[in-house]
Amino acid sequence: MKILVVGGGGREHALCWAIAASPLCTRLTCAPGNAGIAAEAECVPIAAEDIDGLVAFAHREAIDFVIVGPEQPLVAGLVDRLAEVGIKAFGPRAAAAALEGSKGFMKDFCARHGIPTARYARFTDAAAARAHVRAHGAPIVVKTDGLAAGKGVVVAMTVDEALAAIDAAMVAGQFGTAGAELVIEEFLAGEEASFFALCDGTHALPLAAAQDHKRVGDGDTGPNTGGMGAYSPAPVVDAAMTERIMAEIVRPTLAGMRAEGRPFVGVLFAGVMIGPDGPRLIEFNVRFGDPECQALMPRLMSDLLPALIAAADGQLANFHLRWRDVAALAVVMAAKGYPGAYAKFTPIAGLEAAASQPDVLVFHAGTARRDGGIVATGGRVLAVVATAPGIAAAQARAYAAIDRIDWPGGFCRRDIGWRAIARAEGTGT
Ligand code: AMP
Ligand code: GLY
Repeated sequence: MKILVVGGGGREHALCWAIAASPLCTRLTCAPGNAGIAAEAECVPIAAEDIDGLVAFAHREAIDFVIVGPEQPLVAGLVDRLAEVGIKAFGPRAAAAALEGSKGFMKDFCARHGIPTARYARFTDAAAARAHVRAHGAPIVVKTDGLAAGKGVVVAMTVDEALAAIDAAMVAGQFGTAGAELVIEEFLAGEEASFFALCDGTHALPLAAAQDHKRVGDGDTGPNTGGMGAYSPAPVVDAAMTERIMAEIVRPTLAGMRAEGRPFVGVLFAGVMIGPDGPRLIEFNVRFGDPECQALMPRLMSDLLPALIAAADGQLANFHLRWRDVAALAVVMAAKGYPGAYAKFTPIAGLEAAASQPDVLVFHAGTARRDGGIVATGGRVLAVVATAPGIAAAQARAYAAIDRIDWPGGFCRRDIGWRAIARAEGTGT
């Protein structure tokens, strides 16, 4: 089969790495890819947001199956457009991608179907939003309705912070039309986990769970980022919790979406808060997480590609996937300054020495080849992933590999996995 993977981040590198190993794959292309992905796939210079360009390329090259990494092209209808020209794809159509594309839709959907989530209200008027915040007090969470590249959520610990978030979105227009409507919701306390299920419109197959670290600094401090590291499995999501998340969140979502004429096909990523009353949904994403995907793929023993095809074909009912009973831990290396302004094109050396360590993979997120070497081109640049029998050993292996990378322009957190390691050591958190 000729396969096209859409995207150019660490998630797509991990997906390409898994798909390149499939005996079903005869040609692997990736748009736009990056310098690391180029080792696994032919990279074609078409942006992930260029729907017309992607459809034209897939048609011209007679691609058999397209796997869409990021949310933006899903929300923009790439899978619908590919279907119009007879090309099969993994990922939801636009109507189903609304679970991520519109937080207001997602919250109303959960209310209609009794899916446990934070209490909320929707606003298109700044004065009404401010009055709501003043009436409810803090902590409170302010979210843009539309996609805001991971920056549209403010967990406000004070009323003033919440009011500032309302003004930034609705008055200053910081997020354009994505912030013209806001969802304001109850603050949920507990431990957060990322739960993934493959869906074929009717059936859901749980994948593994993971946890990521969103804050830029050690000890989970500093501003939010796209994710500075992740590990899988997530100790807080044991077999009983997996069954609760499937029964209380994933299966009712799949049934509800189907009943509403928006069958969900793809990977459903439920961000859940596990608190005293069990799991509650924080948000849905309609794609793999980044960097969670980089920690999941090395644990997968089965061939990924037939599973993705079975999902697209509505054939997951009797499908099984086998997972390696190991822990995987991914540490993200980012350009100094991220998530603020950072320098581009700083040189990175030692990548081969790092990747030659046993049970270590180096996935690229924002890299390019220049003058025979590798340079950084993005904020999040690499994910170094190690597997080991336990989480502490995986962490030690990942950092040992990182110490072989010579990149003066980059940094990483040194404590990825601390919560799981503390739990494993029985010291609590
Ligand atoms: P997002 O950018 O949509 O991934 O959300 C950012 C983060 O905000 C989530 O991963 C949570 O850590 C946090 N968050 C979102 N909603 C809530 C909530 N209702 N209560 C507590 N934390 C939340
Ligand atoms: N790591 C969280 C996300 O991919 O949204």
